[in-house]
Amino acid sequence: MAPRKIIIDTDPGQDDAVAILLALASPDEIEVLGITAVAGNVPLSLTAKNARIVCELAGQTGVPVYAGCDRPLIRPLVTAEHVHGKTGLDGPVLPDPEMPLADGHAVDFIIETLRKHDSGTVTLCPLGPLTNIAMAFRKAPDIVDRVQEIVLMGGAYFEVGNITPTAEFNIHVDPEAADIVFRSGRPIVVMPLDVTHKALVTKPRNDAFRALGNKVGIAVAEMTDFFERFDKEKYGSAGAPLHDPCVTAYLIRPELFSGRQVNVEVETRSELTMGMTIADWWGVTDRAPNALFIGDLDADGFFELLTERLGRL
Ligand code: RIB
Ligand code: CA
Repeated sequence: MAPRKIIIDTDPGQDDAVAILLALASPDEIEVLGITAVAGNVPLSLTAKNARIVCELAGQTGVPVYAGCDRPLIRPLVTAEHVHGKTGLDGPVLPDPEMPLADGHAVDFIIETLRKHDSGTVTLCPLGPLTNIAMAFRKAPDIVDRVQEIVLMGGAYFEVGNITPTAEFNIHVDPEAADIVFRSGRPIVVMPLDVTHKALVTKPRNDAFRALGNKVGIAVAEMTDFFERFDKEKYGSAGAPLHDPCVTAYLIRPELFSGRQVNVEVETRSELTMGMTIADWWGVTDRAPNALFIGDLDADGFFELLTERLGRL
C-alpha cells in the first residue's frame, strides 16, 4: 500500500518533536509532504526553528518547513513555556538549524498542496492550535472537500482541561479556529487528553529510548525527562504524556486505539469554559456525529512501535 501523504501542522514542543520523528522514521506508511509551524507552546519564531531542529535530528532536511500564523484568529496568544521550557524544546542540547525555512506562508502551502494532489489523498495532522488550518479553510474554501482526513491532537472530555479547568491547550489557544475545523464536515479523528494521558513515558519506557543508543533515542529520553515535570507535579503522572505522537502512531497502527464516533463542539462564547470540547459521548443530543473521539490505547503496543521506529533514525 502506498504511504499516506500528510502535512504536519505543529508547535514544537517536545511531544510534537517525537510525533514528527515517528512520522519521519516511517516512510513505508507516511509521506510527510511538509511541516507547517504555528504559534502555540512557544512563539512562532521558536516553533518554526524547532521544527527544523527536529528534521535535522532525524537527518531529513529535505522536508520543507513553513512558518505560519504567529497568533490565533481573534484571541491573544497563550504559550506554555511552563511546560516546554523557554525554547520549547528544553532537555537535550541540540544545534541551531542550518536548513532554511521554505519560502512562502504555511497557509498557502496547505492550500497549494491540497489543490496539487488528487482530492481525498492528503491527510492533515494538526498537533497545535488550529489557526493555520482554519485560515487555509477560510482563504480557500475549495480545499476543504479535498482533505482526506484530519487526525489531530486536541480537546478533552472525561479528562477535562490541562490549561484551564475545562479546556485542553491546543483548543483553548484558538477556539474559533477549532470551531471552524470541527464544523468543516471532513472526517476527523481526535486524540484528546482522555487517551494521551494514558501514553505515559514511565521510567522503563524512558530507559528504552536511551538504550537505543542513537542520538535520536538519547534526545527523546532527554526531552521527556524535561517535559514530564508539569504532568508529574499537576497530576502525579507516572511520566510525560506523549500527546502528539498518538496522531502519527494512529496513522501507522490505528488498531492500537479505540474510540467512539460522536458529536464534538467547541465553546467559543463563555470565558469560563472557553475552548472546552463538548463531546456527546453518551449520545444525549441530536447533534450529528462529526469526529472519532479516541478514548483508549494499547500503551505497551504504542511504546513498542515508537521505540522500534526511533531506533531506525
Ligand atoms: O495539550 C497538549 C497539547 O498542547 C500538545 O499538542 C502539546 O504539544 C501542546 O501543543
Ligand atoms: Ca503540540
